[in-house]
Amino acid sequence: MAGAGPPDFTVSIGYDRRLYEHDISGSIAHARMLAAQGVIPAADADRIVAGLKEIRGEIAAGEFPWRPELEDVHMNIERRLAEKIGDAAGRLHTARSRNDQVALDMRLYAREACARMLGRLHGFREILARAARDHQDAALPGYTHLQRGQPVLLAHHLLAYFEMLGRDAERFEQAALRADSMPLGSGAMAGSPYPLDRRSVAAELGFGRVSANSMDAVSDRDFVVDVLSASAICMMHLSRLGEELVLWSSDEFGFVRLADWCTTGSSMMPQKRNPDCAELTRGRTGRAYGNLVAVLTTLKGLPLTYNRDLQEDKEALFDSVDTLADCLEVCAAMVATMTVDRDAMRAASASGPMLATDYADHLAARGMPFRQAHGIVAAISRDAEGAGRAITDLSLDELRVYSELFDEDVLGLGVDSSIDARDVEGGTARPRVAAAARDALGEAASGLERSAAALGGALAGQVRAARDGLLEMASGLGA
Ligand code: ARG
Repeated sequence: MAGAGPPDFTVSIGYDRRLYEHDISGSIAHARMLAAQGVIPAADADRIVAGLKEIRGEIAAGEFPWRPELEDVHMNIERRLAEKIGDAAGRLHTARSRNDQVALDMRLYAREACARMLGRLHGFREILARAARDHQDAALPGYTHLQRGQPVLLAHHLLAYFEMLGRDAERFEQAALRADSMPLGSGAMAGSPYPLDRRSVAAELGFGRVSANSMDAVSDRDFVVDVLSASAICMMHLSRLGEELVLWSSDEFGFVRLADWCTTGSSMMPQKRNPDCAELTRGRTGRAYGNLVAVLTTLKGLPLTYNRDLQEDKEALFDSVDTLADCLEVCAAMVATMTVDRDAMRAASASGPMLATDYADHLAARGMPFRQAHGIVAAISRDAEGAGRAITDLSLDELRVYSELFDEDVLGLGVDSSIDARDVEGGTARPRVAAAARDALGEAASGLERSAAALGGALAGQVRAARDGLLEMASGLGA
C-alpha cells in the first residue's frame, strides 16, 4: 500500500472489484491445498473457506464495505476475512503474493471472457448462416472502391462475414489456451519454499497446466494482449459490417431497412431513421484499438518481474471485453431483424455497367485475349455512357461494330447468368452459395462444439450459454 502522499493514486478498487469471484475461487483453492499439504491447520482452512464464501455472498448482494484505503480487491477481501474469522485469516497469504494472486485472477477472467466471446461469435455465425439460407435468391451489387463491380448474391456477401467471424473464433480459442496456465506458487516471483501442490490447485480452478517459470508467470501479460488483439481484430470486422449497414440503409442505397430498435429519430428532422447502433459499433472500434496499444505500450520495456505498471492492464481488458460483447450482440441482432429490399438490390445489380466484365469474358471465351477484350468493352462502355445509354441497351449489330466476335449469346447476359458464371469454389454462383449456406449452418453448430471442447470444463458450459443467450435475445427482438 502507498504511504502518506496524494490519496487514491494507487487505488484500483473502483475497477478490480470485478475480479472478486476469481480472487475468492483462487483463495479457496489455495487454502484447501495448504491444509492438504499440512502447511496450515485444516480447521483454519475451513474457517478461511467459510469466511470467503460469506464474503462472496456479501459482494454479490451489494453489501460489502469496499474501502479505497485498502487499495485493491485482494486487500479488501483479506481484511474483511480477518474481521470475520480473526487470526486464522492471516494464514491465507502463506506461500502467496499479490503478484501471483493478480496474475491468477486475470487469467481466470481472460479465460471466461474468451468463453463468452466464443459463444457470441458462434451465435452470430448461426444468425448469418440462417440469413444466407433465407436470402438465397437476393442479388446485390458487389463493390470495389465503393463502385459497383459485379453482381453477387446477398447470401455470398453475408457469408463473407461468417468466414471473418470464424477466424475471430479461432483467435479467441487460442487466446484462451494461452491463458490456460496456473500461476499460483510463483510467489512474488521466485517460487515458494513451502511444499505446495500446484497441480491440484490448477485442477480445482479448471486449468490444464501450471506455469513453468515463476518469473514469467507474475510478469507477463501477453495473454491480456492476446485477448485485446483478438478483440481489436473482431471489432474491425464488426465496424466494416456496421459501415455497410449504414450505407445499405441510406436512401442512396435503400437495400435494407433496419429494425426500429436500432435506429433513432433526429431531434430536428422528423423524417430521420438514423442507424445509431451500426454507427456506434463502427465508432467503438477505436476503443478496442486504443486498449490494445495502451497495454502493449505499458508492457514495453518493463524489467522482469512484477512492476506496478501491470495494474494498468485491467481497465483496458475489461473495456475491450465489454465493448466487443455488446457489439457482437447488437450486430447479430441488427442482421437478424433487418428487412431486405430484394427489388432495390436487384435493380442496382442489373444496372448496365455491372455486366461489363461478362461482356469482356464473352469475347475472351471466343478467342480474344482478355486484356484486349477488356479494352474493347471499356471503349463500348465509354461510348454508351456518352450517349446516355447502358452497354446492355446496345443491339448485337451495334456491338459488332467493336468486335466481330460478339454473337447472339451476349444478349442473354444478365444478373443471374453473371452470378452463375462464377462457378468456382468460393464463387458466388447460386449452387455454390446454396451449398455454402448449408455448410455454414452445420459449421455454426460444430464450431460451437469445437470451441466448447477446446476450453473444456465449466468454460464449455459458458460458451454454450453465451451462444444460447445471444440467439434468445435476437428472437426476442422478433428475428
Ligand atoms: N493491484 C495490483 C495489480 O493490479 C495487485 C498486485 C499488487 N502487487 C504489489 N506488489 N504491489 O497489479
